[in-house]
Amino acid sequence: MTAIEVNGVQVYSGLLDLEAQRALLDEVRAVVRAAPLFRPVTARGKEMSVRMTSAGQRGWVSDRRGYRYEARHPGGMDWPPIPSRALDVWRGVSGVDRDPQCCLVNFYDEAARMGLHQDRDEADFAMPVVSISLGDDALFRVGGAERGGPTKSVWLRSGDVAVLAGPARLAYHGIDRVRPGSSALLTKGGRINLTLRVVD
Ligand code: SIN
Ligand code: FE2
Repeated sequence: MTAIEVNGVQVYSGLLDLEAQRALLDEVRAVVRAAPLFRPVTARGKEMSVRMTSAGQRGWVSDRRGYRYEARHPGGMDWPPIPSRALDVWRGVSGVDRDPQCCLVNFYDEAARMGLHQDRDEADFAMPVVSISLGDDALFRVGGAERGGPTKSVWLRSGDVAVLAGPARLAYHGIDRVRPGSSALLTKGGRINLTLRVVD
């Protein structure tokens, strides 16, 4: 399995073939049925363009009180279990013995994007973040661990897996845009990104 490296982030292109993507998507649909997507609001009260939910013991939420992990969905239900095929990906590429506690599910419609940020709400930065892309292509921008440094971009396609580990664990990253209609995996289009994390 070979990866390309983008500012230290390892990107495994086409790690999941179409059959594996479809099977994982079925599991993600079950997650979304049990714990519906919601639109997070930043601490400053701005709605994010991405809709989210989570699976696992912890889910990532953002509202007027700020960003944090919670044991329950904002609707009060438990987060459903992490999709087994996402766990398989983590076990294959994470390089660590622990399993993730959170699988964050981000849904991007054609207008959604995600500004440059670090994933730093987790306790142990020795634990990687593993990201799985499904559906439409997305322009993924990666910088260094300091805000404002040079960045590099790569298109993430359905079935690609990116690993933020080691010096790149705290790399700034974001999604500039998605390319509508670039994948037929999701019947109504759009992109799903799963990120797996050890939280505490
Ligand atoms: C994220 O940073 O949480 C999502 C990255 C992505 O959508 O690829
Ligand atoms: Fe992130």
